Amino acid sequence: MIGLMRIGDHARGMALGAVLLAGASFVVAAPALGADAKAGQAVFKSQCSICHAVQAGRNMTGPSLFGVVGRKAGQEAGFHYSAANEKSALVWDAATLDRYLTNPRAVVPGTIMTYPGLKDDAKRADLIEYLSTLH
Ligand code: HEC
Repeated sequence: MIGLMRIGDHARGMALGAVLLAGASFVVAAPALGADAKAGQAVFKSQCSICHAVQAGRNMTGPSLFGVVGRKAGQEAGFHYSAANEKSALVWDAATLDRYLTNPRAVVPGTIMTYPGLKDDAKRADLIEYLSTLH
């Protein structure tokens, strides 16, 4: 899947541009520059696992996040979502997850996910990289 470019990370953006100009087009399909799924798993365990399982169909306080990347919002069977989430019409691609996980209530006003958001760009990129392995 297409890697996530961290918003505001100009140095990396310029580096990516330079690589692209050099014609190394494979970079486009590579994971986010520097994003680390293993580090993301640790972030998940400390920040998300209290409410979310990664096993398919296992809903806790929050819905299972198995296969969440690429899924439409509010689709996990048997989980009672807020109307705000269900009607958001969002698709959890990497860019949308990046905005959502920075500040959930800004992206889905009225969500019942009380998590305040993860402001650290690098940790968020690692986390999304990890979420994208859950298939
Ligand atoms: C305090 C519990 C809690 C924590 C901590 C939490 N969540 Fe949630 N999460 C929820 C709940 C509840 C919902 C359902 C939101 C709704 O219906 O409005 C949700 C929804 C979501 C969704 C939307 C899923 C869908 O099927 O539409 C994603 C993605 C998500 N959470 C990711 C995360 C990630 C990643 C973390 C860790 C950074 C996290 N959450 C931390 C409780 C939590």
